[in-house]
Amino acid sequence: MIPFPTGNTVKITLVGAGAIGSLWAGALARQGHAIHLWRRQTDTAFTLQWQGLDAPDTDTFTFCCNQPERLTSSDVILITVKAFQVLESIKSIAPWLRTATPVIVMHNGMGTENEVLQLLPDNPVLYATTSQAALRVDRQSVRHTGVGPTFLGAVNRAGEQWQSLAGVLNTALAPCQWHEDIHAPQWQKLAVNCAINPLTAILQCRNGELAAPDFTAELTGICREVAAVMTAAGYPTRSETLLQRTLTVIQATAANYSSMQQDVANQRPTEIDAITGFLIEQAHHFQLATPANFALWQQIKHLEQNYG
Ligand code: PAF
Repeated sequence: MIPFPTGNTVKITLVGAGAIGSLWAGALARQGHAIHLWRRQTDTAFTLQWQGLDAPDTDTFTFCCNQPERLTSSDVILITVKAFQVLESIKSIAPWLRTATPVIVMHNGMGTENEVLQLLPDNPVLYATTSQAALRVDRQSVRHTGVGPTFLGAVNRAGEQWQSLAGVLNTALAPCQWHEDIHAPQWQKLAVNCAINPLTAILQCRNGELAAPDFTAELTGICREVAAVMTAAGYPTRSETLLQRTLTVIQATAANYSSMQQDVANQRPTEIDAITGFLIEQAHHFQLATPANFALWQQIKHLEQNYG
């Protein structure tokens, strides 16, 4: 295992500074790590107001951006763009990326892994899935709005040596744990996202509103289909377990708007293809029917196609 001794400054290039990316950028900078941002905007600096959970004060950080030499000298790359932007963002960093540098990909949903591995055949590649919640208050401010676990795991042999990165992430935003099979927590998170995200985006409501008894039948139907697909994919589970987990997340994040609700509210492309779309694709592979999830996928697609 390649160690990152506690207290050492780690040079991190963070690709994408949306809500989750900004949350991690600030949290890692607070630990003294050297954060460099790689953004689509061409500015060479970005100032972020970072507000911790229940903290009245904000921290202000000014990050250096888009410096190819900082990218090359990074100890680790953390990609926090949306699933549909992952390949494009990897292509944008590839010319300056050393093959020894570990790359962590963190996004909602699944399905990018094979193409990422093709683009990065020699780098250590890791995936992370997080249930931390953040709200972009405005373009330059982010607030940490909920604590949840983060899991990190390797998706190629070279990535397996980098378990110490879970410690780096854990010190910045606990809890973060290494997982020997990252697909397991990815599926668990995907199940919750299949249940909460499309419904809250269609209804334009906070997560907590799904706790009303009116939604029990619909949530049950979604979870039943997800459980069947997960079981076929080698991650056996029961629909009752998924429903219970979904209701727990709904309670814990009752006041929050889901990421898909926020995307639809702001007329941005959503992650529906990486969440419900991935589920439907897997269901097709295992010849399983997922009518409840398919109906939600269609409704989100319809909303996206009718943005003004
Ligand atoms: O995408 C999100 O917003 C979150 O993953 C979750 C768990 C649905 C909570 O809002």
